[in-house]
Amino acid sequence: MASASRVEITSKVLESLKGTPYEASALDVLSGGTANFIYRASLIQPLEDGAQQVAVKHSEDYIATSPDFKLTLSRCRIEEECLKALSAFPIVGKADESDPHNFIVRTPKFYYFDETNNTQIQEYLQNGIDLKMHTLTVESGPDLEITKHQSLQLGKALGRWLKGFHKWAAQQPGLRRAVAANKELQQLKHTINFSWLLDRVKQFPNVLGGAEGIFEEVGKMAAAELEDDNQLQVIHGDFWTGNILLPKARIQEGVDVPMFVIDWEMSQIGKPNLDVGQMLAELYELKLYKDKSAGLLMAQGFMEGYGPVSEEFAFRTAIQVGAHLVSFGMIVPGWGSVEQVEECGRLGRDMITRAWEKDRRWFEESDFAFLFSTTR
Ligand SMILES: Nc1ncnc2c1ncn2[C@@H]1O[C@H](COP(=O)(O)OP(=O)(O)O)[C@@H](O)[C@H]1O
Ligand SMILES: [Mg+2]
Repeated sequence: MASASRVEITSKVLESLKGTPYEASALDVLSGGTANFIYRASLIQPLEDGAQQVAVKHSEDYIATSPDFKLTLSRCRIEEECLKALSAFPIVGKADESDPHNFIVRTPKFYYFDETNNTQIQEYLQNGIDLKMHTLTVESGPDLEITKHQSLQLGKALGRWLKGFHKWAAQQPGLRRAVAANKELQQLKHTINFSWLLDRVKQFPNVLGGAEGIFEEVGKMAAAELEDDNQLQVIHGDFWTGNILLPKARIQEGVDVPMFVIDWEMSQIGKPNLDVGQMLAELYELKLYKDKSAGLLMAQGFMEGYGPVSEEFAFRTAIQVGAHLVSFGMIVPGWGSVEQVEECGRLGRDMITRAWEKDRRWFEESDFAFLFSTTR
């Protein structure tokens, strides 16, 4: 049976909210998502906390942007469990009290999950935009030094939050049990990071031809990691710039910047390097493809905020960055020229190879020197 059209889905969702506290006068489609149908609902009656708008996330058993791709609905439960658990995760305070910038990183409030319709209601970030689009489209201020500082601080706040989350979640047995069940998406994540490496070799033999052997080795290493649950911990699982929201406005001194970490359906048990590496790769792509130096600055700040790591952690993270650059960075539709795509592929290939060989010197002379600057 053909899947329902977007219009049909929107009216089904609107209908299902009738008679609930989330009954809406209008549903506006929000862009930016891939797997789900996301709306801003304007409520007929404000909620007890005063909210007049909420975010509505509706799921079907397939990926919204490619309906032929089936995806388990149990992902909704995973997100619900995460958001509920994270409501008890304390807000990580500022690293430096005297800094005039305050990035307040947190998760949206979870209001409700309608399990019959697979529709979730959560707190809506007013005038929000994701961090990728923010970096690409929101103009920065005229003072270059202040702008640089802001990028570093933003990255740092995000890194501090992620470290805090990884540590905190490791102490939450209930949360761990819930996300450990997300085996299907754990497998999917492994496939899109590591099996895709070999697809890219076929696609770009002139750039990646010689790397096939090493790609196979790192794929085996990453698959072996997943075999021992005791070595794994709760991670976000899709920690990239598209899943960080902030207000669509220039960042200014003295104005608090709320940042939402959204989209928890890929949460799983895994190596924390998966979260760190994905974010670093995505930030770096902003520099590589779009000449946004903010991308590299945020990456540096991010690692500083994440805090000291072992050399082993740095190498494993570098492999993850490389895998992301090759598997995803080379195929972003309409993103860059052939030369840029190849540059991205070469960098990803080299990061994987050099990390596999534990060539610290190579990293120390690269843009990714910051990965090793805090190693214990
Ligand atoms: N709580 C929210 N407040 C405001 N906008 C949101 C919120 N949640 C999601 N969005 C918007 O919807 C988009 C997709 O949401 P996300 O949860 O990442 O879905 P998907 O799983 O489809 O990627 C986001 O990029 C953002 O633009
Ligand atoms: Mg998303």
